Amino acid sequence: MLDEIKKIDNLEELQALYTATFGKNGTMTARLKTMATLSNGERAAVNAENAELRRAFKEKQIELEQAALNAKLSSEYVDVTLDTEPKNHGTIHPLTETLSQIGSILESLGYTMWTGPEVEDDWHNFTALNTPSYHPARDMQDSFFLDNGNVLRTQTSAIQIRAMEQHGVPIKMFGVGRTYRKEMDATHSPMFGQIEGLYVDKIDKHITMSDLVATIRTMLERYFERKLEMRIRPSYFPFTEPSIEIDIKWNGDRWLEIAGAGMVHPNVLRNCGINPDEYQGFAFGFGWDRIAMLKFGLNDIRKFYDGDIRWLKNSGF
Ligand code: DAH
Repeated sequence: MLDEIKKIDNLEELQALYTATFGKNGTMTARLKTMATLSNGERAAVNAENAELRRAFKEKQIELEQAALNAKLSSEYVDVTLDTEPKNHGTIHPLTETLSQIGSILESLGYTMWTGPEVEDDWHNFTALNTPSYHPARDMQDSFFLDNGNVLRTQTSAIQIRAMEQHGVPIKMFGVGRTYRKEMDATHSPMFGQIEGLYVDKIDKHITMSDLVATIRTMLERYFERKLEMRIRPSYFPFTEPSIEIDIKWNGDRWLEIAGAGMVHPNVLRNCGINPDEYQGFAFGFGWDRIAMLKFGLNDIRKFYDGDIRWLKNSGF
């Protein structure tokens, strides 16, 4: 019997033999029932055999269970060196990230965020900005016109008109959004982003060009997280007088144009129902994509809009 137990290699057979031995009609059960008729010596022999068989069954059971467990463990083994399936996690788009950084800087300076429609009417995109239809400055921007005379907003300056019309003065706002022009190369995309600031208050608040320059410096230095060398050039925009452009020194040697700005033209205030003898202020506008490209050392604006997830993930944001 002991040999028989040793040879068994699965739990089912062991269970069957166990039942045949110790079950209700088992061989050992039958012998134990005859104990009363046996001599002391015979009884001791049966007891010893009984104990030995039980031990043998128990040992075999443990051995088989252990073997089954080992087999299971090795079949369910996880090879951590295998390639995993790639998982795509969403990330914040670099332009969204840039806007939230610039936005929080401007908000900390007291500016409130505004948006406006991307399909604009002529009034908000041009005329109210002191650029009536005969004005040569309309040619400064190559515009996408719609059949009904509306235009795909060429500049977020349109938002400052809406803000002044709706909110009135005093006002301290920034407008953000997509703008459109017929141009396309590595540094120009037909769709691009602009951020626009406007601060208008009573004349006796003395909002001046130096406030404008200081505001732009503060904003840019906080965004780029370092001191910047800045240069101011006289320029022309129909909606500001005087008008300036601001350049920053980049990589130690190049001057890069970064923003257009100026004191809001009296005609613009008038067009929004504001008396220029009582109020004055400044406005500034700059390319949202452009500053993101500078900060992260990118050289092709079109990448922002290609929607290539591999690039977006590796763009350093
Ligand atoms: N709208 C101008 C552009 O698209 C940028 C600009 C210049 C905005 C001067 C302003 C400003 O608010 O004062 O080129």
